[in-house]
Amino acid sequence: ATAVVRTVADLRAHVAAWHGQGLRVGLVPTMGALHHGHLSLIDRLADHVDRVIVSIFVNPAQFGPNEDFSAYPRREAQDLAALETVGADLAYLPDVKVMYPQGFRTNIHVKGLSEGLEGDVRPGHFDGVATVVMKLLMQSQCDCAIFGEKDFQQFAVLRRLVIDLDLPVEIVAGPIIREPDGLAASSRNVYLNAEQRSIAGQFNLVLADLRRRAMAGEDLRILEQEGEKALLAKGFDRVDYVRFCNAESLEMAEDLTAPVQLLAVAVLGKTRLLDNVQIG
Ligand code: PAJ
Repeated sequence: ATAVVRTVADLRAHVAAWHGQGLRVGLVPTMGALHHGHLSLIDRLADHVDRVIVSIFVNPAQFGPNEDFSAYPRREAQDLAALETVGADLAYLPDVKVMYPQGFRTNIHVKGLSEGLEGDVRPGHFDGVATVVMKLLMQSQCDCAIFGEKDFQQFAVLRRLVIDLDLPVEIVAGPIIREPDGLAASSRNVYLNAEQRSIAGQFNLVLADLRRRAMAGEDLRILEQEGEKALLAKGFDRVDYVRFCNAESLEMAEDLTAPVQLLAVAVLGKTRLLDNVQIG
């Protein structure tokens, strides 16, 4: 059965017992409203560790003042049932006061990688992510943690955080899990109405076309502009960016000599959809 803990002391008691038995412990940080993308991370992490902890915490620090913090889906009972089904060993559901007690003052900023792309549209977002993930890693004392490539910039920020602060935690990447039509699974997909949901299915097809044309040698800057136009023509309300980036630094890629990732955000109503594809 999946045990549930809500305090750092209870979390550490489980982990200390496992470490005492010589077991390797892994953490899957989430904000809940679990879908098959999240569950795939649990599955994949189980190949690397003996025990899997899933944290569920809708982190106020990574939402901007006009973002969806209060509307973000919260489904504790369903999530715990799903964790039971996939055989997670422990669920950690801290309260906001456990994570940010009175007097909390610390902020973690990963320079450069936190700016640009999502960082431009959501100032402070990656500070909120880096700070809460640092806390989750320290609270759990986990040996290994997994993050999805769906949030490619987030992954880059967190990989850097762990290297820069010498955290003794192995970081594993989980590939993007998609719906049958290619839309990346996301807790925010529930915001889409039927018409928006059908438009959303075109997002990955447009990116796949840009990928093919980039590999055929077309100019990356022109492809970005044409990608944006194509998305608007498919019915997206806004495009925040379509950008070919160096896969490690996330700086704008000039050509395909180094590994390149195409990162994009297209918007339907108030819902921002993130997706990315590897080029080459
Ligand atoms: P959340 O959006 O709940 O995502 C939790 C983890 O699941 C992240 O590592 C995310 O990249 C991964 N994920 C989400 N959808 C996925 C998909 N379709 N395929 C593969 N992986 C997917 O990301 C966060 O929460 C938060 O920022 C968090 C890291 C928990 C810090 O608060």
